[in-house]
Amino acid sequence: MRAITVLGIETSCDETAAAVVRGRSATGPGDILSNVIFSQLEEHRPYGGVVPEIAARAHVEMLDGIVERALAEAGLGLGELDAVAATAGPGLIGGVMVGLVTAKALALAAGKPLVAVNHLEAHGLSARLCEAVEFPYLLLLVSGGHCQLLGAEGVGRFRLYGTTIDDAAGEAFDKVAKLLALPYPGGPRIETLALEGNSKRYDLPRPLHGRAGADFSFSGLKTAVRQITLEQKVHPADLAASFQGAVIDILRDRTRAAMAMFMRDFPDRASPSFVMAGGVAANGAIGSALGALCVTEGFVLKVPPPRLCTDNAAMVAWTGIERARLGLFDPLEVAARARWPLCAA
Ligand code: KG4
Ligand code: ZN
Repeated sequence: MRAITVLGIETSCDETAAAVVRGRSATGPGDILSNVIFSQLEEHRPYGGVVPEIAARAHVEMLDGIVERALAEAGLGLGELDAVAATAGPGLIGGVMVGLVTAKALALAAGKPLVAVNHLEAHGLSARLCEAVEFPYLLLLVSGGHCQLLGAEGVGRFRLYGTTIDDAAGEAFDKVAKLLALPYPGGPRIETLALEGNSKRYDLPRPLHGRAGADFSFSGLKTAVRQITLEQKVHPADLAASFQGAVIDILRDRTRAAMAMFMRDFPDRASPSFVMAGGVAANGAIGSALGALCVTEGFVLKVPPPRLCTDNAAMVAWTGIERARLGLFDPLEVAARARWPLCAA
C-alpha cells in the first residue's frame, strides 16, 4: 500500500498545533514525523478558562512558526506532502477559522488537496494512529466539550449510543477543580490530588446510574460538590478522590450499557476494541477502571498515550490520511463550523 504523508493543523481550542504523519497501512499505526504543540495555558490562566478572543489572536501569532517547525522536524517540504488537513470544527469559531484558512493557503500554494477534519472524528480515530485497531469498535469520547459513546464503523461512519444531557466529563473536572481553587485545566490536577485522597469520604450522586440507554449526566454531581464546599470546610484530596470515584462509576455504568448495545449491533465481532479518546482519557484511574470492565465484558481496551489524548495535530493529520486514502477531499470553499456533530442523534 502506498504511503501517504499529511500535514495536520489543530486550532479549535487553546492548543496551537501542527504535525506531519505518514500512513503506510489502512488500519494504522501511523509514523509521527513531527508533532508540535503550543499550549496557550499561560494566556488563559488568569481567567480560569479559555477566552475565545485571546485564543484566536494567539493562534494567528503562533501558527505560521509552528507549521514551519513541524515541516522542519519532519525534514519535509510542502511539495513532499500528499495533502494538508486542518480541524474545520467543532470548536471556537475564531480559532478554527485561523487554522482552516492557513491550511487552505498552504494547499493552494503547494497544489495539494485539502482535508477538512471534524475534531471529534480526529479524537475518535486517534487510537488507529497509535496501533492497528480495526473497525467496528466501541468509542468513548471524553473531553472538555464532549462526552459520547459511539460505535465506530468506519471513517465518517459513527452511530451514537449515548451522549451527555448536560455537562461534558472534562467540564465537570474543570468546574470541580475551580471549586477546589485548582488552576485550569482541572483534570490532571484532580487526578493527582485524588491519589492521596479517600474516595469514600464524601457521598456523591451517580446521575442516571442504571437507567436504560447509555446517556450521561454530570451536572447533579457538580452541584453536589459545590454544595459540600459551601456547607463545610472540605478535605480537598478526599473530595477530589470522591468526585473522581463518582465519575468513574458513571463512566463504567454507561459504558457497560453501550457495550451491550454494540454487541447487539455487531454480534459477530469477536473481542472488539473499546477505545477511549479525548483529554479525559488521559486519566489513569479512569483507564484502569474501564480496563477492568473490558476484561469482564470481553472487550480489548485501547487508549492513546496522554499526549495524543489531549488536543494535538497528529490526530488531525492521521484523519487526513484516513480520508485521503478514501479520496475524501474538500473544496477550498469549505466553511469552518462551530457546531459539527459526529452523527445525528
Ligand atoms: O480533548 P481536550 O484536550 O480538549 C477538548 O477537545 O475538549 O480535553 C480537555 C479536557 C479538559 O476538560 C481537561 O480537564 C481534561 O480534558 N483532562 C483530564 C485529564 N487531562 C485532561 N481530565 C481528567 N483527568 C486527566 N488526567
Ligand atoms: Zn479535543
